[in-house]
Amino acid sequence: LIEAASVFAESRRSYRVIHGSLTQLPNKVRNYVEENARLCKPDTIHICDGSERENEMLTYVLRKDGMLKKLHKYENCWLARTDPADVARVERLTYISTPLKRDTVPTPKYGAKSQLGNWMDPEDMDNELNMRFPDCMKGRTMFVIPFSMGPVGSPLSKIGIQLTDSAYVVASMRIMTRMGDQVLEALGDSNFIKCLHSVGRPLPLTAPLHNNWPCNPKMTIIAHLPHKNEIHSFGSGYGGNSLLGKKCLALRLGSNLGREEGWLAEHMLILGLENLDTGKKRYIAAAFPSACGKTNLAMMTPSLSNYKVTCVGDDIAWMRFDENGVLRAINPEAGFFGVAPGTSMKTNPIAMKTCLKNTVFTNVAETSDGGVFWEGLESEVDPNVRIRSWLGDEDWKKDNSDRPAAHPNSRFCTPAAQCPIMDPLWEDPKGVPIDAIVFGGRRPQGVPLVYESFNWQHGVFIGASMRSESTAAAEHKAKMIMHDPFAMRPFFGYNFGDYLKHWLSMGEKENVHLPKIFHVNWFRKSADNKFIWPGFGENARVLDWIVRRCDGEDIAKHTAIGLVPKQDTLNLAGMEEAVDMEELFSLPKEFWQNEVNAIYKYFDEQVNEDLPNDIMHELHNLEERIQAE
Ligand code: GDP
Ligand code: PGA
Ligand code: MN
Ligand code: MN
Repeated sequence: LIEAASVFAESRRSYRVIHGSLTQLPNKVRNYVEENARLCKPDTIHICDGSERENEMLTYVLRKDGMLKKLHKYENCWLARTDPADVARVERLTYISTPLKRDTVPTPKYGAKSQLGNWMDPEDMDNELNMRFPDCMKGRTMFVIPFSMGPVGSPLSKIGIQLTDSAYVVASMRIMTRMGDQVLEALGDSNFIKCLHSVGRPLPLTAPLHNNWPCNPKMTIIAHLPHKNEIHSFGSGYGGNSLLGKKCLALRLGSNLGREEGWLAEHMLILGLENLDTGKKRYIAAAFPSACGKTNLAMMTPSLSNYKVTCVGDDIAWMRFDENGVLRAINPEAGFFGVAPGTSMKTNPIAMKTCLKNTVFTNVAETSDGGVFWEGLESEVDPNVRIRSWLGDEDWKKDNSDRPAAHPNSRFCTPAAQCPIMDPLWEDPKGVPIDAIVFGGRRPQGVPLVYESFNWQHGVFIGASMRSESTAAAEHKAKMIMHDPFAMRPFFGYNFGDYLKHWLSMGEKENVHLPKIFHVNWFRKSADNKFIWPGFGENARVLDWIVRRCDGEDIAKHTAIGLVPKQDTLNLAGMEEAVDMEELFSLPKEFWQNEVNAIYKYFDEQVNEDLPNDIMHELHNLEERIQAE
C-alpha cells in the first residue's frame, strides 16, 4: 500500500530531477523546492552542487540556447547580450510588502509618492504573485541554488536558497556567492531565506525572444516579504533583479535583519589602506550610489607610492560592533558585478587584470578577435579589429554611430578570489575593523572634494542628505540630481526614518570606537564641463588625508559644512596636472543655501513625521552656519 501511494505521488509530479536528488536535501529545503515546483511546473529540476563539471554543463546549455557566446581571446570568458528591454535594475517595479505600510516607507506629506521605496499590501502582493508564478517554468529547468552570503559557516553569514529557471543566473550566482553542497551542509535543518526567481517565459513561447534572452518586462516584479524572509522576482534576468543574494537579500532583507539583530547592511565597498612607510593599516568603508565609483575605489592603484590598497569588497558591507567595541565589516559577496564602461588599464588596471578570465560579460561590445570592447578602451584596443556593438551593429565605429558600443550599464561578473589585490583578511569570518566611513556621489557643482563630519550625528546627517546625479544603473533617464541617502535609496528594506534612528543609536553605544565619517566628490566639474579632479588612482591623496585625520593629525579646518583640509595638507606631490584647488574646494554660498532648501523640502515631504529630531537639528545648524558665512 505504502509503495502504491508513493508511486501515485510520483506520477502526479510533472517534473523529473535531472541533477542531484530531493532526498539529499534538508527537509525544509525539500519542502520549499517541492512546493514551488508544484506551483511553477518546471519540466526538470537541477539541484546545484557548485562543481566544475556542473558549470561546464551549464555553459554548454547556455551556448546551445544562444544566451552565451565564448570569447576566444580569453580563458573561460563569456558574453551575454540581453533583450534591450532588460538592461538595469527596475526600481519602479521593486516592492517591499509588509502588513503595515509605515514599516516600509515614511508617509509622504501632501499625498506625494514616496521616493524611499514602493510598498504593497500583502494581500495585493499575493494577488500579483498569483498572477505570475503558476506554471511560469513550464518547459524549463528549475535550478536549486543553495548559497551563502558571507563565508560558509561564519556566524555573520546568511544562507539563502534560490530557485530559478535561468541558467545564466546560476552561472552568475556561482561567481557572486559561495554556492553548492557545502552550503547545504552548513545549513542543516536551519531556516533560510527563500528566493524564488523566474524569467517569466514558459515554453512553448508565445512570442519570439530578443537576443535569445528570455524575460517578461511587462510583468516584471521584484518583491520582498521581510516578515517571511522571502523574495519573489519575476520577469527580469538582469543581475540586480535576478541574482537574489545581492541587492534583494544582502541589502533589502539584510537591512531588516541588521535592524533586528543590531548590525548594519550597507551599500558600501570595503578597502584596506596600508602605509608602507609606517606599516600601519586601516580599513575604510564607502557608500556611493550605483555607478559612482565604488568598484574603482575598492581596487585602486594609489598614485602615492607609500600606500598600498587591498580590496575586501566593492558593493556591499555587513558591519557590526564586536565585543571590544570595534566596528567589523564583512563582504557578503564572492564576486564583482562591475560596470564595464570606463574600466581600462589606465583607470583601473586591477579590474582589467581580474576580469580577463572566468568572467561573464553582459551587454559589452565584442571584437572580431574574440575579445571585449566598451567606451574607455579606445586606446587599448587593436585598431585593426572590427567591433560589434552590444546591439549587434557590425563594424561599429565611434565616428559613424550615434549609439555607444557597450550599454552604459554593461557589466563584468568575475570572481573576487582572482583579483590580484584581495586583502588577506577578505574572507575572515570576524570581518575587518573599520576606521572611517565615507559617503559620496556625483556632484557636478558646489560639493568639495572631501570634508569630514564634526561628529557621528553630523555624519549620519551627511549620509541622510546625500544627493547624486542619476546613472544608467537603473531606469532613470535624464541626468538629474537625485536624493540618495546613504546610497541606499533603491535598497532600503524598511522605513528610512527608522533606518536613521538605527544609525543614530550606534552613536549612543557605550565603549565603542566610532569610525570617523567623511564625504567625497570625485565628480565636480569646471565651467567648461570637465572633471576638475583627475580621480581614480589620484583619489589616494584623499584617502591619505582621511587616514591622517583618523590618526588625529591637525590638518583640518572648520567650514560651514564640515572640516576640510587646511591649506597644503592634501598631499599633491608629483601630480601630473595642476588642479585648481580653490575651485575644487570652494563653497558657493548660494549653492549651499539652495542645497539646504532642497534637503528641507525632501525631509519635510518625504520623511515627514519619521525624521528623527536630531537630524532636523543638524539641518538647522547647517543652515545657520551657512547664513553666518
Ligand atoms: P560603482 O557602480 O559604484 O561600483 O562604480 P564604478 O567604480 O564601477 O564606476 C562607475 C563609473 O564611474 C565608471 O565608468 C568609472 O570609470 C567611473 N569612475 C569611477 N571612479 C571615478 C573617478 O574617480 N573619477 C571619474 N571621473 N570617474 C570615475
Ligand atoms: P554598483 O552595483 O553599485 O556597482 O553599480 C550594482 C547596482 O547597484 O545596481
Ligand atoms: Mn551596487
Ligand atoms: Mn560596482
